Amino acid sequence: MTATDMDSKHLTCLVTGATSGIGEATAMGLARRGATVVMVGRNAERGQRVRDHIISSTGNSSVELMLVDFASLAQVRDLAAEFTARHTHLHRLVNNAGVVKLRRETSIDGYETMFAVNHLAHFLLTHLLLDTIVASPAARIVNVSSHAHHFGWLESDDWQSEKRYSAMRSYGGSKLANVLFTYELARRLEGTGVTANCLHPGGVASRLGQDNGWVGKIATSAFRPFALSPEKGARTSLHVTLSPELDGVTGHYFAGSRERNSSKRSHDRDLASALWRDSERMVGISQEA
Ligand SMILES: NC(=O)c1ccc[n+]([C@@H]2O[C@H](COP(=O)([O-])OP(=O)(O)OC[C@H]3O[C@@H](n4cnc5c(N)ncnc54)[C@H](OP(=O)(O)O)[C@@H]3O)[C@@H](O)[C@H]2O)c1
Repeated sequence: MTATDMDSKHLTCLVTGATSGIGEATAMGLARRGATVVMVGRNAERGQRVRDHIISSTGNSSVELMLVDFASLAQVRDLAAEFTARHTHLHRLVNNAGVVKLRRETSIDGYETMFAVNHLAHFLLTHLLLDTIVASPAARIVNVSSHAHHFGWLESDDWQSEKRYSAMRSYGGSKLANVLFTYELARRLEGTGVTANCLHPGGVASRLGQDNGWVGKIATSAFRPFALSPEKGARTSLHVTLSPELDGVTGHYFAGSRERNSSKRSHDRDLASALWRDSERMVGISQEA
């Protein structure tokens, strides 16, 4: 069965970071097309408010909320268990949640926070949901990266930016990890019918980066007048998630709803395998194999 054959009404979709910005607009777009949408958020109150808004705006009541802090790998495991207890299929996994930290911080598990939330949590979530995804016809995995990956710092001897940290370059490194992960995943999923693609949503006026005191607030408000609305920012995510013309298309990078070139480094297979191997170790799945 292709995505073209499947009406959106029969799709079960999970969107991470669905309580704000691009993820919220993506969840809204999927709900509007009649899909069952599992919104993943961190803040119960905001999540409930956004869920109610999506249901009342779209008339689609098949919108669920699951809570997780992606800075905790144990909570990612709980999320995957909760999802698989409630659902037998997952046709669309949209790995969208992201964070920018001006100062280096570490997650509950001791990993640099942007690398942990933007990459490791989604790496683990995808791994834990993979059997359910593979069992779902014409399933797609969509990773929200950024053009920031072009100038990202990511070194196999310093995944955690311990030797040097710069908010934008380490953020770019976590977004480069999203692209490397996507390409490696697409290679590993060959023959399963599941596709994996990634994208840049555009410069979007969202809450990204605001959680950094007054510096974050000033920097994000200066950028706001030039930025896209979250609805426009979600267009590429919705295109890559739903467009029938992308049936079977895998291992690509999109921006402006078109395929684009990602950086030369994002095609480095040695870096991708090292990232995969070390990510397995960091999230504790190599021992389970
Ligand atoms: N905005 C841009 O210009 C831009 C450009 C390129 C790429 N992107 C990418 O687009 C994606 C969405 O970002 P956005 O701009 O829509 O930002 P946003 O408005 O800040 O939304 C980010 C979402 O991620 C969630 N999140 C953050 N940290 C989390 C954690 N520890 N655990 C669970 N959820 C967490 C947030 O939850 P809360 O609601 O609880 O905070 C929120 O739902 C990100 O991956 C970002 O890197 C954005």
